[in-house]
Amino acid sequence: MGENPQGRICPLRNINGGVLKAGMHVTVLRLGHRKNRDKRVTTHVCLAARALGADGVVLNGEEDDVVLAGVRKVADTWGGKFAVSYEASWRKAIAKAKKNGASVVHLTMYGERVQDVIGAVRKKKRLLVVVGAGKVPGDVYRLADFNVAVTGQPHSEVAATAIFLHELLQGRELERKFTSAKLAIVPQKSGKKVVCRPLRARKN
Ligand SMILES: C[S@@+](CC[C@H](N)C(=O)[O-])C[C@H]1O[C@@H](n2cnc3c(N)ncnc32)[C@H](O)[C@@H]1O
Repeated sequence: MGENPQGRICPLRNINGGVLKAGMHVTVLRLGHRKNRDKRVTTHVCLAARALGADGVVLNGEEDDVVLAGVRKVADTWGGKFAVSYEASWRKAIAKAKKNGASVVHLTMYGERVQDVIGAVRKKKRLLVVVGAGKVPGDVYRLADFNVAVTGQPHSEVAATAIFLHELLQGRELERKFTSAKLAIVPQKSGKKVVCRPLRARKN
């Protein structure tokens, strides 16, 4: 075990340098994407999910090749394994996840407080984390194993996804290494240092 800068205990990295999540597998289902309204927010949900420890996203709603291609491109450039797919039926996406043994976590301001249920959620090996766009159908609340609120205040699917993943992974997501990246950033106190593959430092 190691200790991260915040003093949180985190397991050592696995051989790929990925986050050890005790075998946990997390997919984010973005419900009800609307091409005209949600392009940016849906992209940000996907990118936040990728950066903060999820293993993939499923896009639901209007099929949007631009969003899907954009997220795939980021994953290809910045590394790591991240599955990106589209499913026209959210019912099917939830049924398939359940069949594969996943518990369904629906993020909603109406749910139970994240701080009260996260312990129970962490015990699950596979999760489908559902975030909405417009009005979320009532059946999603009923089908979910957990309806989870990141505060009882209305805010954003990006914020809810990020904070939920952080609570779930307890900071280990911050240690994640992205394998086979074409670009990687070297953290610096000031300035920008980006390493390209094959390793070539580019300093601006
Ligand atoms: C902008 S909200 C729209 C909610 C929608 N108007 C409704 O009635 O369900 C989009 C999504 O952000 C997430 N969200 C917003 N606030 C949240 C909160 N306090 N806790 C958890 N998730 C939240 C939910 O997944 C929600 O479906």
